[in-house]
Amino acid sequence: MDFETDSTDLRSAHVIVVGNEKGGAGKSTLSIHIAVALLKSGHKVACIDLDTRQQTMTRFFENRASWSKHASWPIELPRHCAMGRGESHDVRANEAQEFAAFAQAISDVEHDYEFVVIDTPASDSYLMRLAHSLADTLVSPLNDSYIDVDVFSRVHHDRDRRGGVAHYADLVLQARRKRRIVDSGVIDWVMVRNRIASLSNNNAKQIAVSIGRLSRELGFRVADGFHDRVIFRELFPIGLTALDPIEEGVNNGGLTNSQISARREIEELVKALALPTRAPGVEHMEQRRLWRDRVLGYYREQAPMAH
Ligand SMILES: Nc1ncnc2c1ncn2[C@@H]1O[C@H](COP(=O)(O)OP(=O)(O)O)[C@@H](O)[C@H]1O
Ligand SMILES: [Mg+2]
Repeated sequence: MDFETDSTDLRSAHVIVVGNEKGGAGKSTLSIHIAVALLKSGHKVACIDLDTRQQTMTRFFENRASWSKHASWPIELPRHCAMGRGESHDVRANEAQEFAAFAQAISDVEHDYEFVVIDTPASDSYLMRLAHSLADTLVSPLNDSYIDVDVFSRVHHDRDRRGGVAHYADLVLQARRKRRIVDSGVIDWVMVRNRIASLSNNNAKQIAVSIGRLSRELGFRVADGFHDRVIFRELFPIGLTALDPIEEGVNNGGLTNSQISARREIEELVKALALPTRAPGVEHMEQRRLWRDRVLGYYREQAPMAH
């Protein structure tokens, strides 16, 4: 992989980075569900876990691999790579080591896979910035809370003091600039609401207005993601999701309404991401090119600042 070439060639792998500097917003949950949904629709998927501390995504796929040995139905698995952490006291040496490992992980899959899903930690680091600048689609989970909105733009009761671009949003804007220079690429940034409350409330409505304003300023799209549901967390220990045929193996034949809704939410989310997924009669690379033209057109028109 060469990060510095000025080339408009597309790699086959469409890189989906799931990022947001806030812990607990749902990055790993979204990464896992997006990866499984893409596997289920027959795509070749590779995953990279950049969260060297928590390794949630890695543990999920370990659980899934071990369940698959006993399951009576086929269980799709991605190629998975868990990044290690540079352990020396020399920050530069650590960065060099992490860069080399990450570059290797990307070049191992960029020409053979259709999608790479990268889960990231809730911290700013060299590697996290690098991963963001490689994203074709950046998915950021957002809970209905001003604490979550504050990660993107300073929220303050005094109008004069609100609205500064916050640290994470600045990181994304820099990644976009870098991306434009390196390969004339574009990052489609999608803010995904997560843990939506089942009853709508005033707070959620006000937050929706703030997010709408921000989406024009920072250049992102907004997608409805997942409601707060037990099914999104309870299957973690066995490495399954609501998309797996849990009614056959785990649930004794039936699905609850919440499980049916969870399935629909996952499918709707993947649709809203508007990824270059398979279509009859269209090659993957052709889909990638069509995707890039569509996204470039969208940002030129809707959010010129973002391009
Ligand atoms: N839609 C949801 N419904 C229920 N629980 C959720 C949902 N999204 C995330 N969680 C739970 O919230 C916690 C944090 O989610 P996680 O995906 O680990 O966040 P992050 O990776 O951003 O730190 C976990 O316990 C996870 O199971
Ligand atoms: Mg996580």
